[in-house]
Amino acid sequence: MISNDLWYKNAIFYEVSVKSYCDGNNDGIGDFIGLINKLDYLKNLGINCLWLLPFYPSPLKDDGYDISDYCNIHPDIGTLQDFDNFMREAHQKGIKVIADLAINHTSDQHPWFIDAKRSRTSKKRNHYVWSDTDKKYDNVRIIFLDTEKSNWTYDKKTSQYYWHRFYSHQPDLNFDNKLVQEEMIQIMEFWLNKGLDGFRVDAVPYLYEREGTSCENLPETHRYLKRLRTHIDNKYGKNEKILLAEANMIPAELHPYFGNGSNEFHMAFHFPLMTHIFLALAKETPEILYPILGDLGKIPDLCQWAIFLRNHDELTLEKVSEEIRQFMWDYYAPNTGMRSNLGIRRRLASLLDNDIRKLKMINSLLFSLPGTPVLYYGDEIGMGDNILLEDRNGVRTPMQWHDGFNAGFSEAPADTLIFPIIDDPKFGYQKINVQNQIQEENSIYNFIRNLIEQRKQYPFLGYGDFRIIKASNPYILAYIRSTNKKSLLILHNFTCKYHTCNIDLSEYNFSSLVDVFGQLEISNNMAKVTLIISPYQYLWLNFQ
Ligand code: GLC
Ligand code: CA
Repeated sequence: MISNDLWYKNAIFYEVSVKSYCDGNNDGIGDFIGLINKLDYLKNLGINCLWLLPFYPSPLKDDGYDISDYCNIHPDIGTLQDFDNFMREAHQKGIKVIADLAINHTSDQHPWFIDAKRSRTSKKRNHYVWSDTDKKYDNVRIIFLDTEKSNWTYDKKTSQYYWHRFYSHQPDLNFDNKLVQEEMIQIMEFWLNKGLDGFRVDAVPYLYEREGTSCENLPETHRYLKRLRTHIDNKYGKNEKILLAEANMIPAELHPYFGNGSNEFHMAFHFPLMTHIFLALAKETPEILYPILGDLGKIPDLCQWAIFLRNHDELTLEKVSEEIRQFMWDYYAPNTGMRSNLGIRRRLASLLDNDIRKLKMINSLLFSLPGTPVLYYGDEIGMGDNILLEDRNGVRTPMQWHDGFNAGFSEAPADTLIFPIIDDPKFGYQKINVQNQIQEENSIYNFIRNLIEQRKQYPFLGYGDFRIIKASNPYILAYIRSTNKKSLLILHNFTCKYHTCNIDLSEYNFSSLVDVFGQLEISNNMAKVTLIISPYQYLWLNFQ
């Protein structure tokens, strides 16, 4: 099986909120016109697939994941024509585009729900999940613990409860209803026909409910997801359009989302890897990562992990033990305002105290572990967050382009912007902005840009083998990424100290190891390599 020509296995993804990126018509809200203007910036950074956060009409009570019309654009973000223009321009620049699609639930403002609430016999009643009691599916966990007391909300008018896994203003759709099943297929076709390259499918574990279960990852859910994939493959060609799963689950529950390798998702986010990378960094040893790393390579050939460090949500601690959660909170979110539900609502640079050594090291991991890296907008320039904003909005503030008015995001009066620009002594736009970062040689931006360039020199990082190497030192993570003839030895120091490390490479045939990022050249001395690794150092060593 040849899997190295599958674009998604070798892409660099970039997650962007159109609303927060660039305001093209100066009304204070980012839009497609603005995003078109920034395509050159993105191309120059080296990314080749954009993941757009929800841009559909919505009351925006959950940043657009509360959709009120699936086949349109939020009027503040643009028009369908703007979208078409954007797609054309992105494709012309060699950038693919996937869109976020929340299929599990709608906004309570969606016409389906408005109709459903009218009476027990209204036409769309059965589009949602209703019950006479709130004791049904009683053991199902609540996800938005900060705000929701139950997964059921009572509707006075029709004297029944409706089911919702997220906010009470986001009623879950009823996937037992064939009409709902069909609607979603039509909606996907609508966008794919516009040239979209795929979807990040939101909250996929929760589509079906069954008594006596956790109502998560059910066989019925997998069955329906397979149906979506088959439909899309049949209509658009095999692997032409991709599906990326958002399932915040442990590895054993994640794997089934790949189906048999070609009948469910192409890609899935690896949430546990993300959480454990931060844990390992806090504990100053990669030890805790080994079980997860051991499992990474074991996915079907046509599938791929989407790996990431941060995204638009809180850094999730849902799936770790209470003890680990408390440790992570104490370490990364000492101020309770930095916490949200079972997670941490901070950006990458502020989590890592703006320590450039840690920022480089953690990004080097992101770009060298098996999977396709997904960058979160703003993290490439080391943007900070604003914990005074509600919910997770503190990590969704406007992109900081330069040190001028509104950071170059918009010409609208500052108090009308979608979210205020970060303006604090450490992360304020006066200091942290694209223009400065491009000019400053040692910036995180220039580092990431170079990292992307290097990654493209070694495409097997996307699809090649992954092998953990026993290093003599427990603070150093060592692995080999390889394809038939080429290999990279990759090392990361998880501590703030110097470490000596011996590595036995007697199995490998080479005359020297050449440092991809520097001038360091190590000749093969009886295949036992001894290295002195500086604090938070990352090394990609090319076997020659
Ligand atoms: C996903 C999104 C999150 C949203 C939730 C409900 O987890 O990433 O932002 O709040 O779904 O739609
Ligand atoms: Ca605008």
